[in-house]
Amino acid sequence: MSLIKDSRLKKIIKNTGFVTVLTGSGISAESGIHTFRGDNGLWSKFSPDELASFEGFYKNPARVMEWYEYRRNVILKAKPNPGHFAIAEIEKYVQNFYLITQNIDRLHQKAGSRNVIELHGNIMENYCIKCGKMFSLEEFEKIYNESSDRIPKCECKGLIRPNVVWFGEQLPEDAVEKAYYASVNCDLFIIVGTSGAVRPASDFPRYAKYNGAYIIEVNPCRSFLTDFVDLWFEGKAGEILPEFVEEFKNLKGING
Ligand code: OAD
Repeated sequence: MSLIKDSRLKKIIKNTGFVTVLTGSGISAESGIHTFRGDNGLWSKFSPDELASFEGFYKNPARVMEWYEYRRNVILKAKPNPGHFAIAEIEKYVQNFYLITQNIDRLHQKAGSRNVIELHGNIMENYCIKCGKMFSLEEFEKIYNESSDRIPKCECKGLIRPNVVWFGEQLPEDAVEKAYYASVNCDLFIIVGTSGAVRPASDFPRYAKYNGAYIIEVNPCRSFLTDFVDLWFEGKAGEILPEFVEEFKNLKGING
């Protein structure tokens, strides 16, 4: 049974040279990484005020760094799943392709995606809050493992923190600008595995829609965005997306 039945969508896929994808933690769920909301979500067990805010970090840096070290270890063991690979494949078949992700796990890059816009930073890098020096994972792990109080510090004595965006913080300006460009210029916008609870990420599909793009959502559950999309594929990314890509390729006349 085919997924793509809508004749408007078929026509768009045949002709488009511009596709944008927005992902959230749901794309990595099948790789064994927790989502944030819902019964099993991280925010049901942990407090975002304590662990994902600058105030929480300043109050207890050792606790926050320990939590990110735990999450980093889970992520480093995880492998991209068929959903990540399917998205990486779409990139090969259109001239303009942007992948906007809220995820910090870098699994898209591991799957081969190239034009990735990281809205919320990434967990592999860390930086000094005083002088801004950026530390690679290797450099950071050395400092972290050698720190007796588990509070890693820069040579300038500033605290080192993960290069992720916390609640109340600004998103990287260049990422937001690129994501805006990708949203208002695409013909097809695919939302995968996000509840749409966090702005500005959840604004991008709206910008796309207002500018005439066709909006698809892939999610096993309804999200805050489901009511306004053109087509909702109710299912897991790792199951829907590989099938979608096969049909996408057929419509574009790509064989093999
Ligand atoms: P949420 O936990 O809010 O939503 C995850 C979504 O993924 C839900 O809608 C699930 O139904 C869906 N989902 C679960 N399994 C799936 C699967 N196999 N395939 C497809 N979808 C699936 O996570 P996000 O929307 O990513 O921000 O959360 C957005 C932001 O809120 C995160 O980037 C993080 C968090 O607080 C920061 O830390 C700044």
